Amino acid sequence: MKDGNNKRKLEFKLNHNIKFIGEVLKEVIKYVKANKKEYLEELKDYLRIPSISTLKSHQSAINKCSKFVASKLKDAGMESVKIYPTDGHPLVYAEWMKAPGKPTVLIYGHYDVQPVDPLNLWKSDPFEPVIKGGKIWARGADDNKGQNFVHIKSVEAILKIKGELPVNVKFLIEGEEEIGSSNLEKFIKKNKKLLKCDTVLISDTSMYAPGIPTINYGLRGLCYMEVELTGPNRDLHSGSFGGGIANPINELAKLISKLQDKNGKITIPDFYKDVKALTKKERENYKKLNFSDAELMKEYGVKELKGEKGYSTQERFSGRPSLDCNGIVGGFIGDGAKTVLPSKASTKISMRLVPNQDPNKIAKLFEKYVKSITPRSVKIKVTAHHGGLPIVMPLDDEAIEAAANAVSKAFGKETVYTREGGSIPIVVEFSKQLKAPVVLMGLGLETDNIHSPNEHFPIKNFELGILSSIYFLDEYSKTEV
Ligand code: BES
Ligand code: MN
Repeated sequence: MKDGNNKRKLEFKLNHNIKFIGEVLKEVIKYVKANKKEYLEELKDYLRIPSISTLKSHQSAINKCSKFVASKLKDAGMESVKIYPTDGHPLVYAEWMKAPGKPTVLIYGHYDVQPVDPLNLWKSDPFEPVIKGGKIWARGADDNKGQNFVHIKSVEAILKIKGELPVNVKFLIEGEEEIGSSNLEKFIKKNKKLLKCDTVLISDTSMYAPGIPTINYGLRGLCYMEVELTGPNRDLHSGSFGGGIANPINELAKLISKLQDKNGKITIPDFYKDVKALTKKERENYKKLNFSDAELMKEYGVKELKGEKGYSTQERFSGRPSLDCNGIVGGFIGDGAKTVLPSKASTKISMRLVPNQDPNKIAKLFEKYVKSITPRSVKIKVTAHHGGLPIVMPLDDEAIEAAANAVSKAFGKETVYTREGGSIPIVVEFSKQLKAPVVLMGLGLETDNIHSPNEHFPIKNFELGILSSIYFLDEYSKTEV
């Protein structure tokens, strides 16, 4: 550290109540700008590790990635850096607790990523990041390595320039978000003291639109089911047997078509029973966002939108529940034609939930309904996969206000508030177990192709994200605890 910086540190120590804004903050931001190239190089190293949590074959990459995160937290000046083994993938913890009387921020993120298939649709290697067109392209660039790296670098910049943080900070970066965070849930329950905080800060969501600073105040929940239908006890010749024995693919298609009616309502009895209706205020907020259906159709190449009647597209995406087949298999799918009446067909179905729906209850309702509409000509097997509770956060919270001011300052525009359609099931656990408000500072864009080929993250969002995080820690330090 240069002498000048030491002097500033001393002054700060002498007068702990002076605002961190002003000269010191300017220095920190200057430092970030001067180092952004180096930060991107480091992010590339992070992205090179193929930490796909769902694939057993990638265990060593997972371990390597947890070590990488731990070393970056150490380099940033965080203390008590520790890798906690779990029954699944390890999680990384670090803290800096030298701001007595100041609030504590727990920053959460995940270092695991989704699989990359279909690989042939990627324009570049998913694990060899490239910078092109103002974006960094790789699996995990947005979801979630790029977004959590933002916070590591913000803390690093403050510590490098100032020698101390304006608040206490804890980091918790896990390796199982994309597979349901079940081990983190257990960890939180057992380590409430360790994780004690005044607010949780997460960047694992999206901005409303490019350049529009956004705070997300809700996430949908998830109920994920698998349905397998079995017809005859072996594959049959579709000439000899077609027309006389039920085809499980035909039956599965009929079953799926019965899950929604012509108005886009989900037909499972009692499915909507616990749904909390959107308030007038919320519907006004959705309207104010001025969403363009035409632009959406253009971006994704569809001629018409589809969904629950009586609700706008934005409401359908995040304020109302939905049901989608995520995959379907059965019969012959190779090149050419093979005539066969298959023995089995199956599908995976996700239902996105809103308050106050409960994924376990919905799983039971789903199972009961699909069994009731399945003819005796096929056998049905229903399996529930991991799920998660929905959440909507109150907006009148100091942490959320500080975050809204911070992103507004960094992006130079007024902040908008949106609910997200996606799910981060652990957020409900943070809120319940730690009794702390959760700030969702979305830095990704909906067009970043998360979970899809050619995932990317805008470099602007990376840079302004670091500033947002710095402004947030500064703003939030003024909160009395
Ligand atoms: N970052 C996403 C959550 C998300 C998705 C936020 C879309 C904003 C928009 C997160 O990593 C994710 O993919 N969550 C899973 C949860 C599931 C695996 C339990 C999801 O939503 O499918
Ligand atoms: Mn994800």
